Parts: sequence; C-alpha cells; structure tokens
Amino acid sequence: MRKLNVRPISGALGAEIDGVDLSQSMNDATFSAVRQALNDNLVIFFRDQHFTPEQHLAFARRFGDIETHRYAKGLSSYPEVLPVVKEAEDRAANFGGIWHSDVSFHEEPPMGQILYALEVPEAGGDTIFVNMYRAYDALSDGMKRMLEGRNAIHTGERSYGPSDSQVTQRQEQFSRSMDVKVKNDAEAEVAHPVVRTHPETDRKSLYISAISIQRLEGMTHEESRPILDFLIAHAKRPEFTCQFRWRKNSVAFWDNRCTQHYALNDYHGHRREMHRVTIAGSRPV
Ligand code: SIN
Repeated sequence: MRKLNVRPISGALGAEIDGVDLSQSMNDATFSAVRQALNDNLVIFFRDQHFTPEQHLAFARRFGDIETHRYAKGLSSYPEVLPVVKEAEDRAANFGGIWHSDVSFHEEPPMGQILYALEVPEAGGDTIFVNMYRAYDALSDGMKRMLEGRNAIHTGERSYGPSDSQVTQRQEQFSRSMDVKVKNDAEAEVAHPVVRTHPETDRKSLYISAISIQRLEGMTHEESRPILDFLIAHAKRPEFTCQFRWRKNSVAFWDNRCTQHYALNDYHGHRREMHRVTIAGSRPV
C-alpha cells in the first residue's frame, strides 16, 4: 500500500491528505491507502483539487455505485452531481444545516459523500463532523445494553415530507439556491438498528440522525423522546467533533456510516457553491 501524508485535524476524527491528485485515475496502491485513511479518520480532506464533474464521478466510482438524490435536482448534464448552493440573498436555511447522517430514512443509506468546493465565503460556511464510534464508546454499559438489538424508526418527513409545514417553508427559502422537491415517499417509515456495525472496520457506532429519527421501535413517541433527546445531545459533544474550514477547491470525503455532520449557516450575504456526489451503501446491521 502506498504511504500517504495524512495529518489529523482534531483528536476525534478528520485528516487532511497531501500529495494525491483526485482528477487522475488512481492506481490500486493509492486507492487502498485512501480507503484505509478514510476507515482510520472517518472523514478525509484534500486541498487544491481541480476536477470536472466527470473526474469527480470517476473518483467516487472507485468506492462504489453512485446514487442520484431523490429530492434535490442534480446538474442537467450530470444528474448524479448535486449542486449544494446557498445564494448570497438567501438567509434562513441552508442545505445540511442540521445534525444528520445523510438520508438515514432510506432502506440503504449512502456509504459516503464526496463534496467539492467551487465557491466559498471568505469566512464561515464550515462543516462540522462527529465521530459516532466515539459517541457509542462513551455510553455507559447500562445504556449500551438497553440499545443493543433495538431499532429506531427513521423518516424523511422533516426534510422532504409534504405534511410538515416547516419543510414547505424551508423549501421555499431554498428555491433561489437549489431545486428541492417535497414528496410523499419521504414519509415512509424505515427501521434501522440504533447501534450499527461498520462493514469494513467491524466497529460499533451509534446510528442516529437527529433530523430523521422519530422513535424507538416498539415504543411510543413520548416514551422514546427522552432517550432520543439524550442520545442526540450526547452525540454532538464537542470532543467527538472536528470542524473543517473550506477553501475553494477543497474536497471532503466522509463515511456516512459512522459520522454525522452539520453545515454551518453563518455567512449571510455571501455565496457558497459545492458539488456533491453520493456513494451507495447497504442496509445498516
Ligand atoms: C451536506 O449535508 O451534504 C452539505 C454539507 C455542506 O454543505 O457542508
């Protein structure tokens, strides 16, 4: 395996990698080293990359099949490349501005995302990531026993569901920046284990996505809420996180199976444009 220069950016997760040109096809040794760095650091960052949508997709395809977003419209010539945009005049909402693991309400949520910065504000617009292995490891043995083998119900209701009036309001605010649609199928309930095991590292992590998790299976909303509120608050403890300062042409590649992330909305009056490609995943176990 090729040795990469991997520099952690926090004690919890995240590392910058130098010396790889993502626009070029990667030999097997470099590919294995990048995959290892992702498994070790959960989110990896590359600076000064210059790739076209085609090269972006080619890099992502080394890691798995590509998925097209079901609710947000991709580029017209490359529907699998999602422009994540906030125009300078948009204020209230930004895409991804809440703690979440991407589309956890799908039967098979993505393995990961590769986000490329085309235009970023001079200050602000950082993304925060959290290490969900750490969140699991730090739970008491009693809480771990209670969660073991338990499912939670996830839905996309609060993100893309037509019956949530806040969603409709948010989508209207988005409309200048992105083409996002609400759809009935986002409200379907999907059960996933609260503690999942990573298919490559074999490590256990807490699998909650603050925006999508509704209740614990077999329990009412009222019974579940205090437990979920605790887990959601616990999972965002600052010592489990890293914060990435974007520059134009930076790339972040996160493992969606063992992280959550949050896109800060603190750059009103400035434009931010990213391209995002989603790598398909498998059913959490
Ligand atoms: C996302 O949640 O995929 C968007 C993250 C970002 O724009 O920083």
